[in-house]
Amino acid sequence: MAASHGNAIFVLLLCTLFLSSFACDSGGVKFGYTGSVGPAYWGNLSSNFTRCSKGKQQSPINIKTSELVHDPKMEPLHRNYTAANATLVDNIFNIALRCGDAAGAVSINGKKYTLKQMHWHSPSEHTINGHRFPLELHMVHSDDNGNITVVAFLYRFGRPDPFFSQIQDKLAQLYAEGCKAEKGTPLPAGFVSMLSLRQHVHMYYRYVGSLTTPPCAENVIWNIPARVREMTQQQAAALMAPLEEGYRRNNRPTQRTNGRTVQLYHRFWGNKKSP
Ligand SMILES: *[C@@H]1O[C@H](CO)[C@@H](O)[C@H](O)[C@H]1NC(C)=O
Ligand SMILES: *[C@@H]1O[C@H](CO)[C@@H](O)[C@H](O)[C@H]1NC(C)=O
Ligand SMILES: *[C@@H]1O[C@H](CO)[C@@H](O)[C@H](O)[C@H]1NC(C)=O
Ligand SMILES: *[C@@H]1O[C@H](CO)[C@@H](O)[C@H](O)[C@H]1NC(C)=O
Ligand SMILES: *[C@@H]1O[C@H](CO)[C@@H](O)[C@H](O)[C@H]1NC(C)=O
Repeated sequence: MAASHGNAIFVLLLCTLFLSSFACDSGGVKFGYTGSVGPAYWGNLSSNFTRCSKGKQQSPINIKTSELVHDPKMEPLHRNYTAANATLVDNIFNIALRCGDAAGAVSINGKKYTLKQMHWHSPSEHTINGHRFPLELHMVHSDDNGNITVVAFLYRFGRPDPFFSQIQDKLAQLYAEGCKAEKGTPLPAGFVSMLSLRQHVHMYYRYVGSLTTPPCAENVIWNIPARVREMTQQQAAALMAPLEEGYRRNNRPTQRTNGRTVQLYHRFWGNKKSP
């Protein structure tokens, strides 16, 4: 029986090696998307996360197009994005592109919010009439007081996304760095042009919600262009590849609206004209 005993130890040893080389230390991140750290438990994981379970204005939500409220006072989504010297970071729960403060801004109700970072969720977090898309991009902006607004693009599989092509090599590098990247060391990504993300938006949805990850802070203004963008299946896979298995599906389930309305801006239905 010594031989089989030896085999068992060998197998155990292999498992340990396998685990230690492929599962990184996710120290610091307290939440996940499955099991006992999954979205249903976020509110219980830290005293700083109680909004996640107690909040009444949480995101994401399912947007029902039959219940949209057209608001003629809403303005076009003014954005002046340019090119920014960016860095790519593996946050463990998502991949983000940080852009410093020079990437541009979005103006909402006359207030300026500066683009800080963008990150991806797969599959999409918001759904439209119950339909979930393969990917969602969150462009996170904030003002000087820390108020947050997000411009969120939904993606379906199709033609290559030109924005993504600029960071493809850097993503591969992030993937190759494995656990080292997870320590949160930003990888310089060089100048990334935001121009393809500022194309005129003819129609978008707006509502007030929250961050979709802990601490789930509220009063976040969401702006979701109705036109769905496209990327290839390979691009979507490359965006998620650097993440550990349990974080490659990183969408929070849709939350109750609790009577919130979603407003609709439509360029051709009497909204203020684009300058
Ligand atoms: C979270 O904690 C509260 C109070 O301790 C408890 O009532 C609730 O069931 C817990 N929720 C989950 C999902 O475990
Ligand atoms: C809550 O957040 C504050 C400020 O970021 C931090 O100092 C504190 O340690 C956090 N508490 C817990 C229980 O994580
Ligand atoms: C974008 O516009 C804001 C004013 O809304 C201005 O402060 C900022 O410098 C502009 N950024 C760029 C990159 O043009
Ligand atoms: C922005 O933040 C300030 C300070 O926290 C707050 O008083 C104000 O109401 C916020 N504005 C918006 C539009 O959320
Ligand atoms: C861009 O940022 C990197 C750090 O991420 C820095 O090393 C580099 O000098 C910057 N390039 C320019 C032209 O500012």
